[in-house]
Parts: sequence; C-alpha cells; structure tokens
Amino acid sequence: MKRRARLGQVRKAVIPVAGLGTRFLPATKAMPKEMLTLVDKPLIQYAVEEAVASGIEEIILITGEGTDPIVEHFARQRGLERELKKRGKAGEARLVERLGRLARVRTVRQAEPLGLGHAVGCARRLVGREPFAVLLPDDLIDAALPCTKQLLEVHAACGGSVVATQRVEGPALERFGVMRVEPAAATRRKWRHRLFRVRDLVEKPTLARAPSSWVVVGRYILEPEVFDFIAAIRPGKGGEIQLTDALRIAARERAVHALAFGGVRHDAGDKLGFLRATLYYALKHPELGSAFREALKSLKL
Ligand code: UTP
Repeated sequence: MKRRARLGQVRKAVIPVAGLGTRFLPATKAMPKEMLTLVDKPLIQYAVEEAVASGIEEIILITGEGTDPIVEHFARQRGLERELKKRGKAGEARLVERLGRLARVRTVRQAEPLGLGHAVGCARRLVGREPFAVLLPDDLIDAALPCTKQLLEVHAACGGSVVATQRVEGPALERFGVMRVEPAAATRRKWRHRLFRVRDLVEKPTLARAPSSWVVVGRYILEPEVFDFIAAIRPGKGGEIQLTDALRIAARERAVHALAFGGVRHDAGDKLGFLRATLYYALKHPELGSAFREALKSLKL
C-alpha cells in the first residue's frame, strides 16, 4: 500500500552517482567512484545509512554508465545469504541481509553526465510534488545527529529549501558553490550563529570574487519547485547544469536557509581527501581502531 506524505514530511532522498569520477582514474575506469571502499564499506553505503538514520524511507539513485554494482549492493542476494548461513557465518549473513532491507531503492538513469543540477532534475518524476533530500556521497559527514537530520529539523521549523554549509578559507574555496548570507532569525537556541538566510550563490568563484567564505557542502533539503528552476537554467560553470544556479533562483523566489552543521566533514571526492577520510574512519572503527593506530606507529613515518 502506498503511504501518503504528511504535509512537508521528507521521505525521499536523491543520491546522484552518475559522475565520471575523473579524479580517481584509473581506479574508477571500470568501477563507480561511489563503490570505492572506505575501511569496510563503499562510499555510497555511508550516504544511504545517513539518509535512513535521518528518517528517509526511499532512496532515488541517479545512475549512469557502469553504476550497476551500486544498485546491486542494496539488492537482496538470497543465494549469498543462504550460503553464508550454511557455512555458519550468521553474522555475515545478517550484514548482507540488512543491506538488502535498508531502504526502498529506486533508480533513474542520467543519459549523460551533464552536471549535478541535471542529475537532480532527472529525479523529478520519482520525487513528485514533495520536498526531498539530496546527499552527495563523496562528502562524508560524521556527526552525532546525522547532518541530513539536522537540515530536516531546520526545514520543519522554517520551511523552504535548506543547505549544509561550512567555512572554507583561502584558494580551496574556489572548488565550491559560495554563498552570500545574512544571519537568520534562529527559532531555536541551538541554531544561534549557525543559521543563515541565503541571499545569493556563485559556483566556483575566484577567491577575489567570492561573496563570503560560507560554502555549500553536499547535503540539501529541496522544495520540489527546484525542478522548475533546473529546467529553466542554461549550462553554467564548466558547461554543466549546476545545482547552484537553480538554488540561486530559489533564493530569490523564497526562503533558502543554510545551516553550519555540527560534525566533521571529509571530502572523499579526490585522492588526498579520500586517504584522510580513510585514516579518520579507520582510527574510529570499533574493531580496527586501536590495532590500526599501532600499525601506523610501526610504519616509522
Ligand atoms: P562531482 O562533482 O564529484 O563529479 O559530483 P564527478 O564527475 O563524480 O567526479 P570528478 O570531478 O570527475 O572526479 C558530485 C556528485 O554528483 C554526481 C557524482 O556521481 C557525485 O556523486 N554527478 C555529477 C552526477 O550524478 N551526474 C553528473 O552529471 C555530475
């Protein structure tokens, strides 16, 4: 039976996985970037688990060429489950079974990687007229309260679209969408000095032209009207249909808020960031952490 959404309730998350992952070549020649393994889980699993822990019921993957392994990762594999049980590996069987039940996963194909905005636009029919979350799996956010859940709380209180933000200083800023913001009337004490009204956005500006040091990171709650804005924009920076440009219209039309989220973010979208994230998550791993710390010491760096 199909459940109807309560007004404003966010049930669906869009996770685009159709990018080319050029920064990881040759690793990503035959394997999607989102299947790169961070300690013991592929990147995509961190994003799906965050969405589910935030109350999301349905994952919409924007797939591209060669992304079948991502879909298979979340499908039931009864043969494997049976075989594991037969071999007395009950724990492993549960792990595999849990993955197949984690969330309802649907897919829509992006025929060509025309940009993040275009990828999100591909979800229009599956999302319908509901607000929805977007998670970019190469942004990993470790937080006591999942980052998507933090944004959902702002969405429930303020309405409109909400993006996650953090400060980035220096030339690194030029790789992001950067915002012009004003402090928002924080309806809750815990958001004091952390909640902003977004007035304008620019994709990958030069440092000299950046309107602030507040950048958009890969977590969003979007109102469905964003699909109209995506349909209306032309290719922007890098010849791609940019989500930032659609959000720019959204910020003019009605409220877009930005929350300086609580938690630690890693950009696992390039090799160095991925290695850093690997160290971070390996050291925090409940079973591997202390042994890994010792192993690092023994390297005599
Ligand atoms: P990135 O900007 O990291 O691009 O996309 P990319 O193409 O994956 O990687 P590089 O820059 O070539 O190394 C952010 C997210 O948006 C998805 C990617 O799969 C990634 O999860 N994406 C990007 C799409 O699904 N479609 C696109 O057209 C572009």
